[in-house]
Amino acid sequence: MKNISLNIDKVLGFIPKERIYAQETKATRCIATLHDGNGAGNDFLGWLHLPSSVTEAELTDIENTANTLRSKCEVVVVIGIGGSYLGTKAVVEALNNSFDWLTTDRKNPVMVYAGNNIGEDYLYELSEILKGKQFGIINISKSGTTTEPALAFRILKKQLEEAVGKEEAKCRIVAVTDAHKGALRTLATQEGYKTFVIPDNVGGRFSVLTPVGLLPIAVAGINIRELIAGAVSMEKATDKDVPFGENMAAIYAATRNELYKNGKKIEILANFHPKLHYIAEWWKQLYGESEGKDGKGIFPASVDLTTDLHSMGQWIQDGERTIFETVISVETPDHELRVPSDKENLDGLNFMAGKRVDEVNKMAELGTQLAHVDGGVPNIKITMPKVDAFHIGQLFYFFEKACGISGYMLEVNPFNQPGVEAYKKNMFALLNKPGYEKESEAIKARL
Ligand code: PA5
Repeated sequence: MKNISLNIDKVLGFIPKERIYAQETKATRCIATLHDGNGAGNDFLGWLHLPSSVTEAELTDIENTANTLRSKCEVVVVIGIGGSYLGTKAVVEALNNSFDWLTTDRKNPVMVYAGNNIGEDYLYELSEILKGKQFGIINISKSGTTTEPALAFRILKKQLEEAVGKEEAKCRIVAVTDAHKGALRTLATQEGYKTFVIPDNVGGRFSVLTPVGLLPIAVAGINIRELIAGAVSMEKATDKDVPFGENMAAIYAATRNELYKNGKKIEILANFHPKLHYIAEWWKQLYGESEGKDGKGIFPASVDLTTDLHSMGQWIQDGERTIFETVISVETPDHELRVPSDKENLDGLNFMAGKRVDEVNKMAELGTQLAHVDGGVPNIKITMPKVDAFHIGQLFYFFEKACGISGYMLEVNPFNQPGVEAYKKNMFALLNKPGYEKESEAIKARL
């Protein structure tokens, strides 16, 4: 099986290879720090050997639970925010048919998401559409206290209990949360829900290969063993004994840090495969929360191409030169579709007749890469042989490992997220949450 690969050739016109390789000592030290567990945030390193330590019993338990939900539900609502849903959505959108919801002979339940916003209309519309449908809920929250998922769960749990009765609802609700603490653990114990544990030492954004991602991904009918197998192979390929020049996670981390030092403050993750949109959303959380702190950090942005070449393309080509681009390039699509010939040729496309749509896409990709490099945008390329569970597993682990290395190279703690608390404090103060009386008074005086 071919592996995903990294190519930094189109960065070298901006930063000589020697400068990137001069980071070898620092990158190697950061990898050792990760593996030895003596750096900042070292109580959150459980993801490092997660792929190789998942047991057969754990996988079977997840698959059995997924099968129960699949047999009972036509719709499964995944409740969670940030790391508690983005990985699942990334895999499901990448691997399931984009127009699945239009088919009538569905093999898999429809996966919908809640608890990732506080939109009243969104929740209302979801609740309305679920009326009369056989649905189940996977409620995912590591802390068990996050407002958005807790709010969605309160509404949908009540609806499910009213629809099918309390006893049956218990069989259709699964909780994924901390082993011992938090409101969701307490509720699950009280109600007798089936539960899965998010290990203490795995943070939300690094949790896709725990039951957080594996359970809903299995419910969607995707082979989680292949996902894990891909991640295991990348765990080996980026291990601490792998030389710097062969370790793609180390090279990626070193390259983006060197670009950052040279004024490239924004990294745009681009794809030419629309089904990868949520892979980029997952990636943005991973890098944004891990590196954006202490007044530092590359801003992670993303575009879907060629779509966004007709909107953001102008900025990327010609705007402020503070960006670099990382393109996920898919080698082989799953299906074949050729451009038909047309007698009239009014659209002038007969020069493409007989070519695969992917060949047109590939030329758009190559043309864009060259244009952007000419426009002053360094280009990193990640090649994915195919969009399948194995290669997504590789991609997940690659980005996680590179993120840990990169965060240490930037000299931040990549495993905390103190900044996400600020809005919560203000929101609770504005909503008069008990215990926030002083903050409430202070914030209201500012309005
Ligand atoms: O990366 C993180 O830890 C966070 O962004 C979480 O993923 C997010 O806040 C959800 O938290 P929880 O699973 O505790 O509800």
